[in-house]
Amino acid sequence: MQIYEKDYHKIIYADVLEGLNTIPNQSIALIFADPPYNIGKNFNGRIDRWESEEAYLTWCYQWIEQCLAKLKPNGTFYLMAATQNMPYLDIYLRKKMTILSRIVWSYDSSGVQAKNYFGSLYEPILHCVKDKNNYIFNAQDVMVEAKTGAIRKLIDYRKPIPTAYNTKKIPGNVWQFPRVRYRMLEYEEHPTQKPTTLLERIILASSNPGDWVLDPFAGTFTTSFVAKQHGRKSISIEIDESYLKIGLRRLEICSEYQGKTLYKPIKTYQQRANLTLFEETHGTSLYENNLEYS
Ligand SMILES: C[S@@+](CC[C@H](N)C(=O)[O-])C[C@H]1O[C@@H](n2cnc3c(N)ncnc32)[C@H](O)[C@@H]1O
Repeated sequence: MQIYEKDYHKIIYADVLEGLNTIPNQSIALIFADPPYNIGKNFNGRIDRWESEEAYLTWCYQWIEQCLAKLKPNGTFYLMAATQNMPYLDIYLRKKMTILSRIVWSYDSSGVQAKNYFGSLYEPILHCVKDKNNYIFNAQDVMVEAKTGAIRKLIDYRKPIPTAYNTKKIPGNVWQFPRVRYRMLEYEEHPTQKPTTLLERIILASSNPGDWVLDPFAGTFTTSFVAKQHGRKSISIEIDESYLKIGLRRLEICSEYQGKTLYKPIKTYQQRANLTLFEETHGTSLYENNLEYS
């Protein structure tokens, strides 16, 4: 296990259970957990597949139990999981916490669509609190435009003096955010990167500036990156070294790792743009192997 830290942003490079052990109990305001889903994704060579559903769930229950111990009495826990596993985790969690919302993160399609059944275009998220009478929910910080479909403002004529309806509302439990695509600025090389917009809503609603936010499966460190932007402190756990390097760079904890500069790999279309620029300015062609990027 290795710990990296700067300005209240801590990365624990370790297995989740080992990493969680180092965190004091009842110290965290908000946990966002986006574990491997047991659906066979390839996380840099580590295949996300357990020998059985039972084995996967037993592992989940272990780290969930530890996460709950780390939460403050007014703490909040958001959990993502595959649609097929969420019912088990929901039943498990509702005995220990209050589930305030069952959120659906719905997104546009990309890649090949299912042809013989209705393809999955959403991921479930549980929003749970330890104490239903004492938890953080900053409604004012996450208001959205109330879309009625009407062009003019709708008027409530049932009021003694007819008044326009509010134009802002607290989002419902169906959230529409695009997935992270290759051409987006925030894109990192990771198969399941979550968008900053999704984490922004969660962090703004369920923590206050100065609070500790924990992500036990950091991946591209979206959670801690957004936490930092909004004045929260963060702890992230990640087991894979190449993803650790993304975190060290994204959180600006260091600029070098093991003697090598940390940099964001240039994208293929940016390479092509550089090539064109070079050709335009030099009136000649640049061979691919002269490029310093890889
Ligand atoms: C679904 S991804 C998280 C993606 C992340 N939310 C993001 O926005 O990029 C799960 C991450 O957990 C990491 N992981 C898998 N098993 C782990 C373990 N036992 N301990 C710690 N991290 C683990 C994987 O390397 C992967 O990066």
